[in-house]
Amino acid sequence: MADIGTDIGKAIHILQQNELVAIPTETVYGLAGNALEPNAIAKIYLTKNRPYFDPLITHVDRLEKVLELVTDIPEIALQLAKKFWPGPLTLLLPKKEGIPDLLTSGLDNMAIRIPNHSLTLDLLRDLTFPLAAPSANPFGYVSPTNAKHVNDQLGEKISYILDGGDSQVGLESTILSIQGEQINVHRLGGLTLESLRPFGTIKLLLNQKSNPKAPGQLDAHYAPGKKMIVGNLQALVKLHPYEDTAIISFKTRYNHPGKQVVLSPQGDLSQAATHLFGALRLMDHPEVSLIISEWVPEEGIGRAINDRLKRASFI
Ligand code: TXA
Ligand code: MG
Repeated sequence: MADIGTDIGKAIHILQQNELVAIPTETVYGLAGNALEPNAIAKIYLTKNRPYFDPLITHVDRLEKVLELVTDIPEIALQLAKKFWPGPLTLLLPKKEGIPDLLTSGLDNMAIRIPNHSLTLDLLRDLTFPLAAPSANPFGYVSPTNAKHVNDQLGEKISYILDGGDSQVGLESTILSIQGEQINVHRLGGLTLESLRPFGTIKLLLNQKSNPKAPGQLDAHYAPGKKMIVGNLQALVKLHPYEDTAIISFKTRYNHPGKQVVLSPQGDLSQAATHLFGALRLMDHPEVSLIISEWVPEEGIGRAINDRLKRASFI
């Protein structure tokens, strides 16, 4: 099992040797390595069992470091960066020559963000290189939102997990690219479409498998390893009144013998987002053979919650 702690010096020492450290962010925990060292990057793909065609997000602690890595930043991207960084925003920007192709799966754009977590910002500030960090889970599985989640699955493969408590957003960053006045959304996430609207025309480019700009948007993802049905819960509860059926509901508790998580009894979407991945993990349990769930309101971060529910239930 990995060591779990808050020792930034220890994390730096490991990263300097091209080894990996799991880091907390406000969205989900990341599996981090030196973004400029192909050796370290290769270990990330290997540890996650991730295909090389699915590029990684680079993390830095301030805008000046972003500008050192990219050749250009469109005006709208700059406005978004200034408004939402540090935060759950990832921008696709043209990378400079010399940035490893392994990091971007050979694409000309790199994905980059400034995460909003004090421990990780301190770490990034003290490092002389940026960190590549995909979510710290085996490829295709649910992303981790605390150190224990990481340890449960990758503890045998990495030596250190920086413990920053529970991720405050609980869903991954929103991924954007800018094309003229247009904001292309490649992944729904912690930053809502509503908050982007003042900055340009929004175009959703989700799940386009033929779109080489977002090769990682596979349908089946965040899979809890169980069959899952999302729909009208009241009806589903009646259809599946069994002990081995588990329920993930938005705000209602049902009279049912199976395991049950209510994402937010108050009906708060942000709170629901922080609980979703933990709930999916909890239901990945030998006593559960079916998960039933329901869509949340398709607004704000609810869109990203529904996107993850859809992928988790995709077979
Ligand atoms: O919130 C997050 O973004 C978390 C934390 C750790 O920062 N990271 C994360 O990474 O979710 P990952 O690897 O699980 O998801 C990254 C997504 C993938 O779908 C990948 O295809 C896409 O970003 N991506 C990365 N680089 C890209 C690029 N150059 N062009 C298009 N898509 C890219
Ligand atoms: Mg991921």
